[in-house]
Amino acid sequence: MIKPKLILVGEGAVGKSSIIQQYIEKRFNEAYLITVGSDKSIKDLNINGKNIRLEIWDTAGQDKYRGVNKIFMKNTKIALLVYDITDKKSFEQLNNWINHVNEANKNENIIFGIAANKSDLFETQVVSTEEGKKFAQEHNCLFFETSAKDYGSIEKAFYKLAEVYLEKIDNKKTDINNNNNDININNNNQTHNNENDDNKTKINGFENEIDEKIVNKDNECCSSKCFIF
Ligand code: GTP
Ligand code: MG
Repeated sequence: MIKPKLILVGEGAVGKSSIIQQYIEKRFNEAYLITVGSDKSIKDLNINGKNIRLEIWDTAGQDKYRGVNKIFMKNTKIALLVYDITDKKSFEQLNNWINHVNEANKNENIIFGIAANKSDLFETQVVSTEEGKKFAQEHNCLFFETSAKDYGSIEKAFYKLAEVYLEKIDNKKTDINNNNNDININNNNQTHNNENDDNKTKINGFENEIDEKIVNKDNECCSSKCFIF
């Protein structure tokens, strides 16, 4: 089964853990329990007949607990950046979070989504939906308005991210089949020729678990598949 690693990142108290709890357990907790390490949850989906297992990682947003995040961010396929619509600073930090994720995943082509969270608190909103969408557009991210109190809004975000991921690997598969001048398949005892050791990925039996074996061909962005809701 395809098992992409999906991480949630963002400042402390923006609602990362609450979003995951709502998605996995369908409940919301008013209390703030600071995340100090990292935690993995599993969600199996079937999208257009394809099975996909999201491995969802919660991370620590508070400064003092972020030390280990870099380790947990490795091998990320999908990143959901979360900000709180009532907290300007959490929005202003999004760029840094994109950089952190990219630094921990050199040469990876990650799908980014942005969750404008706490949409139920619209009366005290300080980051407008337009600002959020504009940032998302400029950074080739999917954009979602979410409330950890509203299962539907959360479910929609994860589903869309999984769907876009599946489309991406389908396109890569087509690329590999149609264009193996750019990527050499290990059946011929060849490896992708890249100066970075991390990226010397051998593609072996690429029909199976292709997400783990994808080679980033030309650093292209997923922009063609990114759009705004
Ligand atoms: P760290 O673990 O420190 O990084 O924080 P976090 O991003 O995981 O935040 P957490 O999910 O713990 O939520 C922080 C607080 O915000 C808690 O009191 C939650 O109940 C509350 N909260 C989270 N999401 C929402 C939301 O969508 N709406 C409202 N009204 N409150 C929310
Ligand atoms: Mg947390």
